Amino acid sequence: MSMTFSGQVAVVTGAAAGIGRATAQAFAAEGLKVVVADLDVAGGEGTVQSIRATGGEAVFVRCNVTQEDDVRNLMGEVIKTYGRLDYAFNNAGIEIEKGKLADGSLDEFDAIMGVNVKGVWLCMKYQLPLLLAQGGAIVNTASVAGLGAAPKMSIYAASKHAVIGLTKSAAIEYAKKKIRVNAVCPAVIDTDMFRRAYEADPRKADFANTMHPVGRIGKVEEIASAVLYLCSDGAAFTTGHSLAVDGGVTAF
Ligand SMILES: NC(=O)c1ccc[n+]([C@@H]2O[C@H](COP(=O)([O-])OP(=O)(O)OC[C@H]3O[C@@H](n4cnc5c(N)ncnc54)[C@H](O)[C@@H]3O)[C@@H](O)[C@H]2O)c1
Repeated sequence: MSMTFSGQVAVVTGAAAGIGRATAQAFAAEGLKVVVADLDVAGGEGTVQSIRATGGEAVFVRCNVTQEDDVRNLMGEVIKTYGRLDYAFNNAGIEIEKGKLADGSLDEFDAIMGVNVKGVWLCMKYQLPLLLAQGGAIVNTASVAGLGAAPKMSIYAASKHAVIGLTKSAAIEYAKKKIRVNAVCPAVIDTDMFRRAYEADPRKADFANTMHPVGRIGKVEEIASAVLYLCSDGAAFTTGHSLAVDGGVTAF
């Protein structure tokens, strides 16, 4: 499949680490100019350095996706720096729950919903008017927890179902404006988020491998390639879709 990205511009949130960093690097490797956005300044600058070290073009903008001023400023910097926006990967997300629904706290609820839902909504709110200029594509990071139950992660599951609701609704609203909106739904991927969740109990890490029909957890590059596909002309007829990249987990 040939990609047709050269000279275009992408913004990636949560790009200081994990899936976001790998996707920012993959966009840059295809010739896109990349705006790397994250709360984490050192990590975000590290992503930019890694892209420049391989001849790519990127800038870092600090952004807390829960803050409207930050998100407005981020999209302003995209236009100020590169003059256009073609693709957005709204990927910043958190997971902090450890218990059943009745054990959750209001603080956990507000924090998870704040980043995973409000953050994605705010980003799309400020990206869509920019994408109207020439068309483009948005990919939001949901999860297999957006497609089904996630025991002991009920708030997270609700937040990722909400991401899919935002994705489908925006896809319909902008379908005739040459803007496609899709979601990617990873199962367990080897990132800091995964390591934090499983560090206390190595048996759970083994379980994470065996719960996937393919017998292993996923790699960040395997999500990045799905995001690039959803942005590419190869997916020109695909919008409002939630693509599971999950080693077969949701095939059951
Ligand atoms: N790792 C997995 O197993 C997995 C599975 C399914 C879905 N996901 C989703 O993938 C996305 C990326 O996760 P990851 O595993 O790469 O996690 P990660 O923790 O490695 O990276 C997440 C990044 O988001 C940033 N971030 C957090 N809150 C932010 C905020 N308010 N504003 C801006 N940036 C913020 C962090 O600083 C970090 O750089 C998340 O939306 C997560 O829910 C991850």
